[in-house]
Amino acid sequence: MTLGSTPLRPTVWWAHISSANDRLVRLLNEEELARNTRFRLQTDRDRHLLGRALARTALAERTGVPASEVAFELRCRSCEDKARTGADGGDPSPHGKPVPVGPATGWEISISHSGEWVVLAMAEGVPVGVDVERVSEARDLDGLAAYTLAESEARAWRALPEDDRSEAFFGYWARKEALLKATGLGLSGGLRRVSVTPPSDRARLVAWEGGGAPGTAWLTDLERDPGYRSALAVLTDRPVEPTVHPAERTAALLRG
Ligand SMILES: CC(C)(COP(=O)(O)OP(=O)(O)OC[C@H]1O[C@@H](n2cnc3c(N)ncnc32)[C@H](O)[C@@H]1OP(=O)(O)O)[C@@H](O)C(=O)NCCC(=O)NCCS
Ligand SMILES: [Zn+2]
Repeated sequence: MTLGSTPLRPTVWWAHISSANDRLVRLLNEEELARNTRFRLQTDRDRHLLGRALARTALAERTGVPASEVAFELRCRSCEDKARTGADGGDPSPHGKPVPVGPATGWEISISHSGEWVVLAMAEGVPVGVDVERVSEARDLDGLAAYTLAESEARAWRALPEDDRSEAFFGYWARKEALLKATGLGLSGGLRRVSVTPPSDRARLVAWEGGGAPGTAWLTDLERDPGYRSALAVLTDRPVEPTVHPAERTAALLRG
C-alpha cells in the first residue's frame, strides 16, 4: 500500500454540556480563564471550558504529555493574510484557531459548540475543521441564507419544501464552516465563497472562490443528534476514516 492511499484517522470527541464541572477549570490557562469569566451565561462558560479542557485532555492522552503542559497558540489566517498584504483591519487581540505548540506541536485540532454539544476534532499533521449547529427556527432564515449560501446553493435551498429549509440551512452552514475552520480563516473567510453539495447528497466541497482555497479537502457530516447538524473537514487528498467517540467515552476520558 502506498502512503498516498493509507487512510488518515482523525479522532472526533463528542462531549455533552453536562460533562462540564469545576474540576476542569484547572486545565485552563490564564488567558482562557479570563475569557471564560467574561461570558455572561453559564452555558457559554461551560461550552468554552469543556472545549479547551477536552482538547488538552485528548492531546495529553495521545502524546503522553501532561494535560496542563499542552499549550495552544491562537492563529487567525484572515488577519495573518491581511498583515502579509499590508491591508488594514486585522484584530490585534489574540484570537483564532487554537494550534497546539510546545510538546504537542504537529497536532491539529478544531473545536465547536452549539446548544448542548461540544465537539473536538484532532489529527496529526493535517488541518481539521469541525462545526456543530443546533437547528433553530431562525426568524429571518431568508436573510441568513442570503448572507450564507452561494448562488447555486441558494437556488437548491429555495426549491426545498418550506418545512425542510431550517434543517437544510444548518446542514449547509455546518459543512461550509467546517471547511473554513480547517483552513483557519473562520467566518472572515466568507461563507458565500465556499460551495458544498446539498445536505441530501454526500458531503463534498464543490467550489471555493477567491483566496485561501485548500488544495484538496475531505468532508463528511457527523451524526449526533436529530436537532443538530455537524460536519468534519480534513485538508488532505488521502482517504479519511475518522474514529468518533460518543459522549459517554468522552465523559470517561475527562474523569481520568
Ligand atoms: C471563530 C468562528 C469560526 C467560530 O464560529 P462559531 O460558530 O461562532 O463557533 P464554534 O463553536 O463553531 O467555534 C468556536 C471555536 O472555533 C475556534 N476558532 C476561533 N477562530 C477560529 C478560526 N479562525 N479558524 C478555526 N477555528 C477557530 C475556537 O476554538 C473557538 O472556540 P473556543 O474559543 O471556545 O475554543 C467564527 O465566529 C469567526 O470566524 N469569527 C471571527 C469573526 C471576526 O470577523 N473576527 C474579527 C477578526 S478575524
Ligand atoms: Zn482575525
